[in-house]
Amino acid sequence: MTPHAGHHLPSHYRSISPRTILAITALLGLSTAQSSKRGFAYVGNTHGPDNQLLTSDNSPIRWYYNWAPSPDPHVSSSIEFTPLIHGLDEASSEQIARQLSNLPSSSTHLLSFNEPDGSTESGGSSISPEDAARSYIDHIVPFREGDRKWKISHPSVTGSGNGLDWLRRFNESCYEIDEENGCPADFVAAHWYGAFDGLASWLGTLDEFYNKNSSRDGDDLKIWITELALPQQDVQATVEMMNSTLPYLDDLEYVERYAWFGAFRADDANEWTGDAVALFEDDGGLTELGALYLGDKFSEGQKGEGEDEDKGAAGTLLVNWQSTLMLLVTAVIFSNY
Ligand SMILES: *[C@@H]1O[C@H](CO)[C@@H](O)[C@H](O)[C@H]1NC(C)=O
Ligand SMILES: *[C@@H]1O[C@H](CO)[C@@H](O)[C@H](O)[C@H]1NC(C)=O
Ligand SMILES: *[C@@H]1O[C@H](CO)[C@@H](O)[C@H](O)[C@H]1NC(C)=O
Repeated sequence: MTPHAGHHLPSHYRSISPRTILAITALLGLSTAQSSKRGFAYVGNTHGPDNQLLTSDNSPIRWYYNWAPSPDPHVSSSIEFTPLIHGLDEASSEQIARQLSNLPSSSTHLLSFNEPDGSTESGGSSISPEDAARSYIDHIVPFREGDRKWKISHPSVTGSGNGLDWLRRFNESCYEIDEENGCPADFVAAHWYGAFDGLASWLGTLDEFYNKNSSRDGDDLKIWITELALPQQDVQATVEMMNSTLPYLDDLEYVERYAWFGAFRADDANEWTGDAVALFEDDGGLTELGALYLGDKFSEGQKGEGEDEDKGAAGTLLVNWQSTLMLLVTAVIFSNY
C-alpha cells in the first residue's frame, strides 16, 4: 500500500478543487468494483483464500448474498451484503427483523421469497401465490417504510414457464388484497440456468411483464439476476456462455446486478449444475471461468491468500474497502503532482 498515504492528505486535499476530487473519484469508480454489477451467490465454505480472492482489491465483485438474512463471517465485510428472506416463516420472524435492522448501512436491498414456484427439495420455498401475496404485504412491504427504508424485491421465481405463471397469479392476489397498491417493489430478482439466448429472452419477458406491459406507476423496475449459470455443459461451452453474458448484462440498462452460480470449487458443485460452473479448481486456483468472471487483473490458476481453514482469519487479512478507496484517492492525488 502507498507508504505516504494518510497524514499528508489534509493539506494537499485543501489545494485541490472539489471538482478535481469528484473527477478522480468518478475515474476510480469506473475502474473498480464500485460501479460493477457483479456479485456472487455464496453457498458457504471454509476456503478462506477463495473468499479472499473474490473480495480482493482488484476484484470487480461488489456484493454477495447467501440466501439468508445475515452475512457470513467467512466473507469479508468490505463488500456489500444483500439479505434474503427465504420463506413465510422467515418473513414473520421478529428475530430476523431485528437481524436486518442490525446490518451495516451498506446493506440497502432486501431479497424476498426464494423460488416460491419451486420445491423445497431443490432449494425453493414452495409457496402459493396467494399466501406469498398476503405475507409480502404484511411483512415485506413494511421494510420499505421503517427506519432503514429497504429497497425490496418481488419473490425470485425459477426461470421457467411456471415462474411467469406464478408471478401473474401473485400480482392478481396482490391487487385482490390491496386494490390500490398491489405488492409494491423497488426491484426484481430473477434466476436463470441455461444458454445465453434463453437468458436474453427471459430478461425480455420480465421487462415486458414488469415495465412495458404493466400499468404500474413510477420508474421502471431494475432486474437483478441472483442465480445464473449454464448447467450440465463442458468447460468450453460454459466459458463461451459466460463470455457472451457478461458484456450483455453489463450493457443492459435495466439489469442492475448479477451473481454467477457459483463461487465454489469444482468438487463442491452440485450434481445438477455439474462441475463446469465452478469458479475454482479443487486446489483453490481460479478456473478459466473464474478468471473470466474476475476480469483482466486475474489469471487461471491464481489462488487467494490466507489459511484454508475455518479459523476466522479471513476478516483480519482483508482491508476495509473505505480505507482502500481513501488510499487510492491519495495515490492518484500524489501521482498527479
Ligand atoms: C405483453 O403484452 C403483449 C401484447 O399484449 C403480449 O403479447 C405479451 O405476452 C405480454 N407479455 C407478458 C410477459 O405478459
Ligand atoms: C398487476 O395487476 C394490476 C391490476 O390488475 C395491473 O394493473 C398490472 O399491470 C399487473 N402487472 C404488474 C406487473 O403490475
Ligand atoms: C470472448 O469474446 C471475445 C469477443 O467478444 C473474444 O475476443 C475472446 O477470445 C472470448 N474469450 C473467450 C475466453 O472465449
